[in-house]
Amino acid sequence: MDYERFIEEQVADIRRTVGGGLVINALSGGVDSSVVTALGHRALGERLKTVFIDNALMREGEGQRVVKTFDELGVKVDLVDARREFLSALKGVTDPEKKRQAITDTFYKKVFGRLVRESGAKFLLHGTILTDIEETVAGIKRQHNILAQLGIDVQREYGYAVLEPLAALRKDGVREVARLLGLPRLISERIPFPGPALAARIVGEVTEERLATVRTATAIVEEELADSGAFQYMAVLLNDLATGIRGGKREFAQIIVVRCIHSVDAREAAVVRLPWDKLEKICRRIVAIPGVNRCLYDLTPKPPATIEYV
Ligand code: XMP
Repeated sequence: MDYERFIEEQVADIRRTVGGGLVINALSGGVDSSVVTALGHRALGERLKTVFIDNALMREGEGQRVVKTFDELGVKVDLVDARREFLSALKGVTDPEKKRQAITDTFYKKVFGRLVRESGAKFLLHGTILTDIEETVAGIKRQHNILAQLGIDVQREYGYAVLEPLAALRKDGVREVARLLGLPRLISERIPFPGPALAARIVGEVTEERLATVRTATAIVEEELADSGAFQYMAVLLNDLATGIRGGKREFAQIIVVRCIHSVDAREAAVVRLPWDKLEKICRRIVAIPGVNRCLYDLTPKPPATIEYV
């Protein structure tokens, strides 16, 4: 594909569709929503309003990092604190699909719906990519960001129209566009992170305390594996307690799984054979997190496992 031409076409298309109206988009800091933000900004300038919604499920320091990165690119991002709304929607929910549904509904119906109404925007710019659509249509995953493909009339249900300029691209194409748009390497080469964020890495109920545990573990894994060259790596919190011994006393504490995979486009994945020393170092750091006494390495390819646990 000629990506320079793709950019020109998408910019022209956004301008044509939107006319003189206002557009809003939610930036998560991942490569897809970052590319959409940069494309939208190129097409519309100040007529694109970009928000970062703090849903309590993001990685350590993410909101501040995203605002600062885009500020340096000349794009203003508003930080919206919606932590309470997401946490209360997730309270008591353990079923994986219900968890995803609670996040979708809170995001689109409550928080985003309100922001759209307040902003007067008639369009939502969204970073849906081809793999999202294919996997959702195939019933492999209920992606949080696929609505039209599932026959949901967003205009009627949520009151705005959705523009998806990346719907023809896979991840490798999105990264190419990111480089051409001049986004920093930190964004264009960033590993994928799911829409439901850390909630996709908590088996069982999502609580503030459990989020704090998986957030700390995520920071450790991302730091240790930054140079691994892997497609994606993560920490997952299981919903069980294991027996352990600490300070000469028996204790029951939580279990963290580390996952590190090779993949081309996330449709299939193979486990990375990490050096034993690296695994032991990660384990030492993970079991130093309060309330955690076991660290496991997941050897399962996709299929039969998915990449995320929820
Ligand atoms: P799975 O777990 O289905 O993940 O093997 C495939 C790839 O997609 C990411 N993923 C998501 N990305 N919204 C996203 O934007 C989602 O709801 C979502 N769920 C999974 C996952 O991290 C992996 O790269």
